[in-house]
Amino acid sequence: MIFQLNKITPKEHAGTLVVLYGNEVSDRSLPLAKRELDYLKSRREQDASAIVRFDRLPDYLYFVNFDAEKPASECQEKLRRSAAKLVAMLRELRINEVTLTAEGTLPEEVVAFVEGMVLADYRFDRYKAKPENHVEKLVIDRAFLSQQELDANQRLWNRIFWCREWVNTPVADMNASDFADELQLIANDLGVACTVFDKKKIEALRMGGLLAVNKGSFDEPRFVVLEYKPANPINQQPVALVGKGIMYDTGGLNIKPDDYMQEMKSDMAGAATMASVLFAAADNQLPVHLVAFLPMTDNRPGFNAYAADDILTMYDGTTVEVINTDAEGRLILADAIAYAVDKYHPELLIDAATLTGAAVRAIGTFGIAAMQQNAANPLSLLRVVGDQVYERIAEFPFWEEYDELIKSDMADIKNCGIAQAGTITAGKFLAHFAKETPYVHLDIAGVAYFSKAQHYYAVGASGYGIRLLYAFLQTYDIMKNNTPVVS
Ligand code: BES
Ligand code: ZN
Ligand code: ZN
Repeated sequence: MIFQLNKITPKEHAGTLVVLYGNEVSDRSLPLAKRELDYLKSRREQDASAIVRFDRLPDYLYFVNFDAEKPASECQEKLRRSAAKLVAMLRELRINEVTLTAEGTLPEEVVAFVEGMVLADYRFDRYKAKPENHVEKLVIDRAFLSQQELDANQRLWNRIFWCREWVNTPVADMNASDFADELQLIANDLGVACTVFDKKKIEALRMGGLLAVNKGSFDEPRFVVLEYKPANPINQQPVALVGKGIMYDTGGLNIKPDDYMQEMKSDMAGAATMASVLFAAADNQLPVHLVAFLPMTDNRPGFNAYAADDILTMYDGTTVEVINTDAEGRLILADAIAYAVDKYHPELLIDAATLTGAAVRAIGTFGIAAMQQNAANPLSLLRVVGDQVYERIAEFPFWEEYDELIKSDMADIKNCGIAQAGTITAGKFLAHFAKETPYVHLDIAGVAYFSKAQHYYAVGASGYGIRLLYAFLQTYDIMKNNTPVVS
């Protein structure tokens, strides 16, 4: 989508025009007759979220109402959802050039609406002979938005686009080394430092978890470290972002039955998310020193695949009894977390991972299952900004009783516990490797990939979590000032 900021005079406008309007609509500046205006008002009273279309062939005029009385975050989310409805209407009529103006709106409301349009317009149609209709050009009334604000947001939306593309791409077309190469290219372009560890290096580092999961695969593993260090960062020690990069999860020898394997190309969404967040921060020069740690491999039952009962020695020396080869994400993440802590001493470590089906069963597809160790404040801030951008977080308990559930008879710990509390024991497994480092675990299994379209998310990869973490980093200094965040 190409954007342009222009001066708009609705009454003289030619082409399809969208008018966003708050609680009042005046007839002074709008190209509406008195009867039309009355109609609009009555429709608004019947249904506050209705989008009203007037046909001015060959052009169309759309009126999108929103409730400015609502709390800001709710109002903005309604705007994103209305934008998705509008995009569906435009798609039906194959309209691909639109002008947007507004009445009585704040810049953040216009941003939310445009964000909804951009996110909703996405389709994974690279593999189709005939791509779907897209909004190719959006002209925005410059009275409502500055170029600077638009540009910064556009760079963020572009990162969400690429995250979705990577996650939607089948493993046959993107394995661990392809993904690493792609990240390297972008990093070079942005001036972000990028180190790609190949199998030899990973062996030398004795990352027993990543190597074990990779044993059944034809393709080599990769471990990518991205570092963005601005000139005057507000943090002395970096914030570490760790992402699960399972390029495909068959389950391994504990192979996934029936249709459970479907959609498992999305098992690298954590890595895609964290790379995208770091790149977005670099794009917009946020003053936070960040390092991303991205372990990558597919999980397959081939060759000399690792097996249940195997005992692995991880990067930090911890021994792990394998109970189930399908609990592979935590094995590759454990090495990445231990490495991050050992080499970078981060002041905060956050991971994102499509880690457990149990997270989806617990809270569905409406948010992220989160846990923390020594990081109550960062998680509170994440909750607050999550509500604001509507990428929400549900905090799970992290009581010490759960630690018992992953103790092993054969090794230090085991890679899964009992049937209960599977999301939490997975988090506990990872927290073992974070040690004293303030640690937030984000299980994004329910939100990274949608089987059914939902609002401004098409079927497939969502990029959920990028806006959350970006907003978190934007407000990170609030937390650094040591003021407890209340939510
Ligand atoms: N990648 C899956 C988790 C998953 C399931 C993500 C559904 C998204 C949708 C993960 O590697 C896995 O297989 N977890 C197992 C763990 C179990 C063996 C302890 C699970 O959740 O069933
Ligand atoms: Zn698995
Ligand atoms: Zn997995």
